[in-house]
Amino acid sequence: MSHCGNWALVTGSTAGIGREFASQLAAAGFNLALLARDASQLQAQCRELASARGIDTRAVPCDLNDSDFLSIIAAATDKLPIAFFVNNAGAESYHGRFLDRTVAEIESCLRLNTLVQLRLIQHFAQRMKMAGSGAIIQVSSIAGHIPLPFMAEYSASKAYQLTLGEALYYELKDHNIDFLTLSPGATKSRRLNYGMEPRPVVRAALAALGRQPNVIPGWQNKWSAFKHRHLKSRRAAVSSMGDFQRTQLQ
Ligand SMILES: NC(=O)c1ccc[n+]([C@@H]2O[C@H](COP(=O)([O-])OP(=O)(O)OC[C@H]3O[C@@H](n4cnc5c(N)ncnc54)[C@H](OP(=O)(O)O)[C@@H]3O)[C@@H](O)[C@H]2O)c1
Repeated sequence: MSHCGNWALVTGSTAGIGREFASQLAAAGFNLALLARDASQLQAQCRELASARGIDTRAVPCDLNDSDFLSIIAAATDKLPIAFFVNNAGAESYHGRFLDRTVAEIESCLRLNTLVQLRLIQHFAQRMKMAGSGAIIQVSSIAGHIPLPFMAEYSASKAYQLTLGEALYYELKDHNIDFLTLSPGATKSRRLNYGMEPRPVVRAALAALGRQPNVIPGWQNKWSAFKHRHLKSRRAAVSSMGDFQRTQLQ
């Protein structure tokens, strides 16, 4: 990590991939601003990392669904030199039929994974530009590389993050900001008890930062994305994903 500024902000820091980012960035010596909805969990995490690593920490309780999320985050972080931003918290993935989803559920997923993420990236990239350098990791998903029937709008929102992130990887270099899009496959988390451990997922991201626009952790995930994007026709790729996803329906 070339950008050892003082502070890193991790959204969704209390579980899964975000929790592991907080742990590895603390081990690398960053002071941490940690964001999630549950304030007591956040405070416990802050105390634990501060005492284990001797770093400064700040709890930022915030629901990214709230309309004033950005002013809450800005008020809590404006005085901190945030040199590293992990844009991790997003809409919960679901598995079901598009036509069984309510309009409110679909709009909430899209809002959280596109507009909210975009506003946060813009806010912290502006600050990093003023500071002269920085690093941003956007947590997308392998679902952004391969269209997933029965997870349609989630998959589409992750494709948005991937495209945005790859474009910003190039554009933000002009301001000495490293931008990486992380595309995990299934990873053990609060909701999943199978898949990769979060540790190698986060290690892969930190190793790839500044070297490439995106990273898919794990050779099985890499192979799956490669096969579906480059070795199959689009029709065959969508059909094979759809047939698999159908078997997982309740
Ligand atoms: N796990 C996977 O298999 C997998 C695969 C591909 C991509 N991803 C992506 O990786 C990211 C993290 O997923 P995860 O599975 O590691 O998460 P997770 O274990 O479910 O943890 C979610 C974290 O985000 C916080 N959070 C959830 N909703 C929030 C909101 N509205 N506002 C603020 N904080 C919120 C949660 O704390 P509170 O509940 O206290 O808010 C928690 O800290 C997501 O973007 C996800 O799409 C995950």
